[in-house]
Amino acid sequence: MLNNDLKLKNLLKELKPQIEQWLKSNVTAKRFKHIERVAKTAKKYAKRVKVSPSKAELAGWLHDCAKDFSNEKLLNFAKRHKIELDKVDYINPHILHARVGALIAKNKFKITDKDILGGIRCHTLAEPNMSKIVMVVYLADATEPGRERRFADPVRKTFKTKGLEAAVLHAINVKLLEVIKRGKSIHPLTIRARNWLVEQV
Ligand SMILES: [Fe+2]
Ligand SMILES: [Fe+2]
Repeated sequence: MLNNDLKLKNLLKELKPQIEQWLKSNVTAKRFKHIERVAKTAKKYAKRVKVSPSKAELAGWLHDCAKDFSNEKLLNFAKRHKIELDKVDYINPHILHARVGALIAKNKFKITDKDILGGIRCHTLAEPNMSKIVMVVYLADATEPGRERRFADPVRKTFKTKGLEAAVLHAINVKLLEVIKRGKSIHPLTIRARNWLVEQV
């Protein structure tokens, strides 16, 4: 276990400059700041729930690597890599940036760890059967210090008082209420993720 942690720490050290360089030419400066905060928050949360901080931080650094891709690029990428597409993905291709981002992490940065890839893939819609690291990344993205406090503060409180699963469920509820308020469709993956979390909490 210790040996494994050391390996991950070294992997993070080795990849971080490459990832930073890649991000600087593929995402906006504002996005870069958000990514930096998510990586830092994910590391902190991982320590709190006693899972690998290096995995969480690495997933944080990569989670939005495809966020500034055009809708056309995301859809082409998804089709080329045979990502299963729902009607909601066609209506709002932007949500594909998480699944496409995981593919970039795998293909470009040669990441094979399934927690890291899962953290990137699930950070927008969530999925059923998420590991603790995957949930940590979801929560870090939803509650990093740059997020609006009226949304993030209650979720942070749930994390402190009721734990990780309850906090992720809370974050999903907050997100879904916004989606409903705007009259938009809900992605089936999020419904399945929420049902799974309801069973866990
Ligand atoms: Fe994102
Ligand atoms: Fe993000």
